[in-house]
Amino acid sequence: MLLVCHLTKQYATPRGPLTVLADVSLSLAPGDAAAIMGPSGSGKSTLLYMLGALEPPTSGQVTLDGKNPFALDPRALAAFRNEQIGFVFQDHCLLPQCSVLENVLVPTLIAKSGGDQVGLARTLIEQVGLADRIDHRPAALSGGERQRAAIARALVRQPRLVLCDEPTGNLDRDTADNVASLLLDLHRRQNTILVIVTHSAQLAERCATRFQLADRGLRRVAG
Ligand SMILES: Nc1ncnc2c1ncn2[C@@H]1O[C@H](COP(=O)(O)OP(=O)(O)O)[C@@H](O)[C@H]1O
Ligand SMILES: [Mg+2]
Repeated sequence: MLLVCHLTKQYATPRGPLTVLADVSLSLAPGDAAAIMGPSGSGKSTLLYMLGALEPPTSGQVTLDGKNPFALDPRALAAFRNEQIGFVFQDHCLLPQCSVLENVLVPTLIAKSGGDQVGLARTLIEQVGLADRIDHRPAALSGGERQRAAIARALVRQPRLVLCDEPTGNLDRDTADNVASLLLDLHRRQNTILVIVTHSAQLAERCATRFQLADRGLRRVAG
């Protein structure tokens, strides 16, 4: 379970504290796919980074399967993120000098990983439809293919929680639909908790649970 209780986030600015989120609560279970929509600047990325333990809240709590990542020391926090959380950003963030296979393997280099990581990476690359592009560098991929590689990289540690920030924001409509199908398909297979920040109503409607972020608060609008 992902539990978020009374989360508040303020940024310190030269003009004093800026409250971006106030009293945000939600709970999601394995198998849930949730979309978060809201105007630009409403705090969608900020919320996603707190769910992913990249940014600490000012007050309130985030727990994943009962664990509060912000109570961990920096080393344990890094391990927690590496093992439990997969990120997909609007920009693919692939390493330009590395092949698809090497990029997908990057998260496995950071921590001691048991099992056949290369085998798992190859399987994921096949599942995202890039088997015949496995040796390509990012520059030799289309935008949709890069995002597919980024999805495989996000899933290689078999995370419980998959967080996507505008994952189809840079793609044309058809490519965006394909990438969304892939994300949702892998989510169902792996029974993860999937949270997608998106401006796309088409993508949001494919998620059973939907939230709207406005005026610093989060409102559940479906599911
Ligand atoms: N590190 C920061 N310091 C100060 N203000 C920030 C910081 N990061 C984001 N903000 C502000 O917080 C608000 C929400 O930002 P963000 O979460 O990126 O919104 P969204 O993803 O919905 O567009 C914006 O007004 C932004 O300017
Ligand atoms: Mg954002």
